[in-house]
Amino acid sequence: MNNSKQIITTGLLLMLFAIIGSGLVGTTYEGTKKQIAENERRAMLRTLNNILPANTYDNDLINETINLYPDSRLGQTETSTAYQAKKDKIVTAVILPAIAPDGYAGAIKLLVGIRADGTLAGVRVISHKETPGLGDAIETKRSNWILGFNNMSLDSHDLHGWKVKRDGGQFDQLTGATITPRAIVKAVHQSLIYFKHNKQKLLNSTADE
Ligand SMILES: Cc1cc2nc3c(=O)[nH]c(=O)nc-3n(C[C@H](O)[C@H](O)[C@H](O)COP(=O)(O)O)c2cc1C
Repeated sequence: MNNSKQIITTGLLLMLFAIIGSGLVGTTYEGTKKQIAENERRAMLRTLNNILPANTYDNDLINETINLYPDSRLGQTETSTAYQAKKDKIVTAVILPAIAPDGYAGAIKLLVGIRADGTLAGVRVISHKETPGLGDAIETKRSNWILGFNNMSLDSHDLHGWKVKRDGGQFDQLTGATITPRAIVKAVHQSLIYFKHNKQKLLNSTADE
């Protein structure tokens, strides 16, 4: 009798520890998940603000987004999200998510900021697998190459100009690495064409699909 009481007590204690233990793991996981999401949000806002400085808009840029249908000009095969920057409720610029599918080591994800007048506010790489020391000069912490797009527009060059110099265009390639810049120049050019054809919707302050 004593023995079975002891077994039951031990069993109950084990159960209690298991419940407390899994509760703690669950709470920690939820807390970490929220922290990761918050860190990602802050990192994204920093990137957006590198393209469009915070004093150039007065809305909640990271949360005022529009959904875009998949479009090959943006390299998107799924619905994607664009950010709308507004001043006094008027859309002054959009930041488009673009994918250059043909990097040296695969797809390069970009954010392409375009002002309402069609000029580029800036381009930033948000992820890539290009080679360190070669293709990774597309990152602003490695070189200023990507800043060369600032203030350009479709009209800055004709069709042939929107290529790297190696292909007869106007854009510098990187030393020993032409494939990476070629992919980005093409993706930025295509993004500008996409903007031109979807301007009305992209600049509509109440737009969504
Ligand atoms: C190991 C290795 C990694 C490379 N990584 C890149 C890269 O990330 N981006 C790129 O454009 N070219 C890269 N290249 C070079 C390309 O193969 C190609 O030669 C180059 O882009 C052509 O540029 P160029 O005409 O200026 O030489 C790499 C080559 C090797 C051998």
